[in-house]
Amino acid sequence: MKRLVVVGTQWGDEGKGKITDFLAQEADVVCRYQGGNNAGHTVIIDGVKHSLHLLPSGILNPNILNVMANGMVINPEAFYQEISQFNDFKLVISDRAHVVLPYHLEYDKASEHQKGDQKIGTTHKGIGPAYRDKASRVGMRVSTFVHPTRMKEKLLSLIEDANRELYGMGLGNLDFQSIYQNYQKYADFMRPYVADTSIVLNDMIKEDKKILFEGAQGVLLCLDHGTYPYVTSSSPTAASVPLNTGIAPWLVEGAVGVTKAYTTRVGSGPMPSEIHSSLADDIRIKGKEFGTTTGRPRRIGWIDTVILNHSKRVSGLTGIAMTLLDVLSGVDTLNICVSYTLDGKEIHSIPADIQDFERCTPNYITMPGWHEDITGVKHFDELPLNCKNYMEKIESLIDTKIVMFSVGPDRHQTIMKERVF
Ligand code: GDP
Ligand code: IMO
Ligand code: MG
Repeated sequence: MKRLVVVGTQWGDEGKGKITDFLAQEADVVCRYQGGNNAGHTVIIDGVKHSLHLLPSGILNPNILNVMANGMVINPEAFYQEISQFNDFKLVISDRAHVVLPYHLEYDKASEHQKGDQKIGTTHKGIGPAYRDKASRVGMRVSTFVHPTRMKEKLLSLIEDANRELYGMGLGNLDFQSIYQNYQKYADFMRPYVADTSIVLNDMIKEDKKILFEGAQGVLLCLDHGTYPYVTSSSPTAASVPLNTGIAPWLVEGAVGVTKAYTTRVGSGPMPSEIHSSLADDIRIKGKEFGTTTGRPRRIGWIDTVILNHSKRVSGLTGIAMTLLDVLSGVDTLNICVSYTLDGKEIHSIPADIQDFERCTPNYITMPGWHEDITGVKHFDELPLNCKNYMEKIESLIDTKIVMFSVGPDRHQTIMKERVF
């Protein structure tokens, strides 16, 4: 396959950064196609940890072209700070991506505050409000942002509107002049990277280059196919790639679904297979399950094949990359959620209505766990029998092969079972 999508199959943080970085060793291009700095992708190479939020996970390889495509929302200050850590890279940013402005962050916090108990638990990075402006046709594209004269007028009108709305919410005024001064600096910095990335990508395809599309978040956080309203404001599915990058749908050749050996979630919303015993704390500590972007403790649950089958269906997964298997070493008995019960009936799909999903109770099968340390395993055959059985059971429950797996956070702790790229 020459054009492969890396998709999160759960509620994010499945290890997409790690898998993308690993596969990128064979790639010419790595392209992020949606989201913004709500994402936090960890890449660890030879013990050195990198946390990426906006930048594609190919940024650590100077030979790879990194693309931030039109579907993204980019906070210029966050971009400036993140890119300043690197000095040898290739990067282009779409002129059609949207810009996150300071008032988006204010709205995000204020609307979460207003929701009280019903809050989504967003990352407070202004992502929802930035996509709202895009959908309302008032947002600022990167092309305007880096334009030598047009940015000022657009920013002024947006901030005037925002101040009226913030005033209505009982919040303070934003100062145009200081924002403008800062944003001019960021625009000057960003300008050299800006291009029509649809043209760049299509040229790469004509040259037969290998492209990885790196999703942020996970299918269950998709605006359309996720657990609405507890979702993000973009679509991480493979179907989102053509629209959000400007390539033809039929040019996407496959999708690797990155799947934790268990489940995690940050933020609010139902999670039927959530573990409420002290085992959740043990897994959280062993798996270092604290948000890369916000530091929040992640909620922990058993693997859920209802969710995986949903993600497989809506995203057309061609293989699974199973991560964090090492974290389950030492758990005596493993549960696998295979269906839910709702109103006394067994169901195998996710109800659309969030209140129904909240009422779903999980049905489990159990598998014996393993106790061996697997962090040094280099081949599938070296895994303990119970670990192999666990993986094979999941493969059969979702009718999809595990094509690669990982037994530790470092790049070298990733094992290919089948060549996919
Ligand atoms: P992403 O958002 O999908 O890229 O995932 P994150 O980077 O937010 O979270 C995944 C976490 O798991 C990071 O801390 C990774 O370093 C870590 N990780 C990834 N794969 C493995 C693995 O196989 N074992 C262990 N122990 N940690 C892993
Ligand atoms: P990566 O790419 C996990 C969650 C937030 C919240 C919901 C909406 O690292 O997997 P938003 O700020 O996007 O409006 O928040 O989505 N969320 C993530 N959870 N990993 C992420 O990204 C996430 N990005 C957003 O916690 O529940
Ligand atoms: Mg993450």
